[in-house]
Formats: sequence, structure tokens, C-alpha cells
Amino acid sequence: MAPAKRQRVDKILAHMGYGTRKEIKRLIKEERVQVNGLPVKDPGLNIIPGEDRLAVDGEYVEYRPYIYIMLNKPQGVVSATEDRTAEVVVDLLPLRYRARRPFPVGRLDKDTEGLLLLTNDGCLAHNLLSPKKHVPKRYYAVVKGTVTAGDVEAFRRGLLLDDGYCTLPGELKILRVGQQSEVEVTIYEGKYHQIKRMFAAVGKEVVYLKRIAMGPLVLDETLNPGEYRELTDREVTALRELTGQ
Ligand code: URA
Repeated sequence: MAPAKRQRVDKILAHMGYGTRKEIKRLIKEERVQVNGLPVKDPGLNIIPGEDRLAVDGEYVEYRPYIYIMLNKPQGVVSATEDRTAEVVVDLLPLRYRARRPFPVGRLDKDTEGLLLLTNDGCLAHNLLSPKKHVPKRYYAVVKGTVTAGDVEAFRRGLLLDDGYCTLPGELKILRVGQQSEVEVTIYEGKYHQIKRMFAAVGKEVVYLKRIAMGPLVLDETLNPGEYRELTDREVTALRELTGQ
């Protein structure tokens, strides 16, 4: 087994969102940082994360190299880390999370709501987005007009989109029909505006779209649009298992 890697206290605390290096230096000067019960004098002190007990103001700092956040993305916010004009999803997170530099795993359109995973675990994100993994993504949609059994069959066969791309088979489930229909759609890839373009291919328009699941991860219905929470260990494990990590 490789020996545990030592890291500087100030680097660990910066990574965990305790402030800038300068702010952490001040915390240390004020004797608010302890390692194994003793006050730290030197910000450059090397410790073994997870083995040495690091605390700030008496509170244990649990060292986690990655963060995983489930966000119920609201409409009107862009799935990006920065944008010249619009609000972006990371703006919805508090500084302690932003300091960990999370990024959205994939994109939802600006007017789409629902489940968005943010993480700084590049490997997991890469695997979840890999076209080879065919990770299912489930959406709830409201569509103008009556969705028919013919549409269900067309989704099942795969649809020819406006750019000539033929989609993989998708699953369309009709929940309610009327002047507007409510449906659930599961797709196994993630092309640009895919759900909207699939409905356009059968002559219909999506008026509301919300992602409700991605692989084993299901949107926590207690989260209102704009709210977030960290994934549970069980959710992270399920994602890792799905991607073979
Ligand atoms: N399909 C779309 O059309 N938009 C999304 O945001 C996601 C899937």
C-alpha cells in the first residue's frame, strides 16, 4: 500500500472552504486551529489527512477530497461555473462549497429545472457523461397537445433529429393527456436539447421540463428549486458502482 500522503494544514483548510490562505494564517495566529489537540503554530505544518485529527474552533474537520452536491436547478440559471451575463448554478452555492470548485456534471437548459449533480470529482463526472456508459436520465415533461401511443412507439424506435442524428431508443410514459400532456421520458444519452428535439421530431412542443433522475440518483423532492444538499455516502457509492469506479 502506498504511504499516506502528507499535506500542509493551510492547504487542507483552504481546500475545505475555511477561507483564503491569508485568512487561514490569521486563524492559526489566533490559535484556533489544532492538530491532535495541540495548537498549530506553522501554517506549513504537514499532516496526514484522515489520520491526524484536525480541528478549527474545537470542531473536527472531516477531510473529504471530493464534494458531491445535488441541486434542484431552478429555471433561468445557466448550468456552468461562469457566464458573462447570466447567473450560473455555482452562484447558488455558499462559499464553503464554491471554495471546493465544483462544476456541473452535464448541462440542463436554462429553462429546465431539476436534478443537477455538482462535484469536483473529475473522474466520476467523466464516467457519468461518457457516451459509452449509457447512463439513464429521466425527465418529467409537459407537452403541448395530446401525446399518443404512436409517439411512445416512435421514441422506442429512436427518432431522427433535425440535424440528421438518430437517437438511441428512449422510453416515453404517458401520465396524462389533454390539451397539454404530462409524460415521463428516459433517455440514455445527452445530446443538445435532446428531449425538446425528440418531441419536435414527432411534431410536439415541450413547455416544461424537469430532470428527476440520473442513473441511481433521484431528485430529492424536499428540495425546492434553488435548494441543494450533499449526497449521502450511499448515493455516492451507487454512482461509483454504476460507472464501475
Ligand atoms: N433535454 C432538453 O431538451 N433539455 C434539457 O435541459 C435536458 C434534456
